[in-house]
Amino acid sequence: MHAWLVEGKIIPKKRISIIGTGFVGLCTAVGFASKGYDVITSTNDPEKAALIKRGIPPFYESKLKELLQRVVGDGYLRCLTEREEAILNTEITFVTVGTPSQPNGSIDLQFIEKSAYEIAEALQKKIAYHLLVVKSTVIPNTTEKMFRHILEEHSGKRCGQEFGICVNPEFLREGSAIHDTLHPDRIIIGEYDKRSGDTLESLYRGFYGPDLPTILRTNPQTAELIKYANNAFLAMKVSFINSIANLCERIPGADVATVAKGIGLDERVGPLFLRAGLGYGGSCLPKDVKALIAFSRDSGYEPTLIDAIEEVNRVQVYRAVEFTEKLVGDLKEKQIAVLGLAFKPGTDDMREATSTKVVNDLLNKGAKVVVYDPMAIDKAKEIFDDRVSYASSALDCIRNTVCCIVVTEWDEFRNLSAEDFVEHMKEPNVVDGRRIYDPEKFRRSVRLVAVGLGDY
Ligand code: UGA
Repeated sequence: MHAWLVEGKIIPKKRISIIGTGFVGLCTAVGFASKGYDVITSTNDPEKAALIKRGIPPFYESKLKELLQRVVGDGYLRCLTEREEAILNTEITFVTVGTPSQPNGSIDLQFIEKSAYEIAEALQKKIAYHLLVVKSTVIPNTTEKMFRHILEEHSGKRCGQEFGICVNPEFLREGSAIHDTLHPDRIIIGEYDKRSGDTLESLYRGFYGPDLPTILRTNPQTAELIKYANNAFLAMKVSFINSIANLCERIPGADVATVAKGIGLDERVGPLFLRAGLGYGGSCLPKDVKALIAFSRDSGYEPTLIDAIEEVNRVQVYRAVEFTEKLVGDLKEKQIAVLGLAFKPGTDDMREATSTKVVNDLLNKGAKVVVYDPMAIDKAKEIFDDRVSYASSALDCIRNTVCCIVVTEWDEFRNLSAEDFVEHMKEPNVVDGRRIYDPEKFRRSVRLVAVGLGDY
């Protein structure tokens, strides 16, 4: 077995298995494998497994493909469809399965439950101590009450004795997931008992060496809540600045971008996550805010503030079409361009993307919609089918349209000049939904309406 020299001590490298091959699972797997750990990923989906075995990620993430190819080629990462073999051949298992929303917003724990049963079966056959690490985002008490309970009941073994459990939430962002995995700003360990926490801490000490980030050790339910509180806080910053943006639009000359800069200079506020826009999307913030609201109500606490975060976000997206109507009036039969479909730049992910709502809203009003995204066109085709036209570049998208809405702030769109719009559009009307254009420059030749920009 390989070993690390950590703080003068030789620490054998643990073998790691990972259940789930989504963003968190695959990036964690590749991260450990890139530093010479033996990693076995496992998925129930044979098609996904076949891709990973060939070093091909089943989704796009910057830098993932190169790294995956390397670690598969070097033999550090294997992918199995058999959970049992993965668990029996390793000492630590990370659980990274998805925790989607139910129709009422509460969390759907079916994949956690299923993996707990599978792990329990494998534990029955295991002689040595095994550590289970829950990385999936789960509502407080899930690990203790559901996960541990299933493991103990169905393996016949005791947590804290034959096996251990930690909750270890993940804070990586899509688009910079590999960087975030290798350079996290903190590690949260919610331990069932001291041995569990020590085992995971020692794994991370070996992994990060001198670059070890701050480690915060706590109990499982606090760790579970930290993940939700973190995402809800980020969502709150976005909804807050969007509320200020809506106010700015009613104050001639006011500009939310400068307000954000001004308040961001206060160390207590900080400059990040204050970009006003059409609202937050993606597979995490919307789902986690909804789940926290549902959990809060179930726990007997009325989540007034968190409810407001969600409500502000729910209506913010409608600004896009309101602005468009302000510029061109009735949308029936009008050719409208939508630039950007992914929920943020750097990804092809369209889960809960604001673009879907903007496009549907435009179609409902009778507009003819042409869309473009540097990466997400294939995903968009699955969603919109032939209800919209697909362009092959930004300029192709805006050609002959009467209004262009910027929904995602890709660099390719930032680089468009006012002249590009004047030259290619039938009428140069632009809705800047992500504040990427300089209003002063643009307003010389383009009719520009932008989120958080007061009319002059
Ligand atoms: C988010 C968190 O940032 C991660 O820390 C967390 O690990 C992850 O969720 C998760 O729970 O798995 P991610 O969904 O990749 O990461 O995306 P973010 O970068 O947080 O952006 C979310 C949305 O907020 C995007 O639609 C983005 O456009 C929007 N946003 C973000 C704004 O509108 N304004 C901002 O200033 C920042």
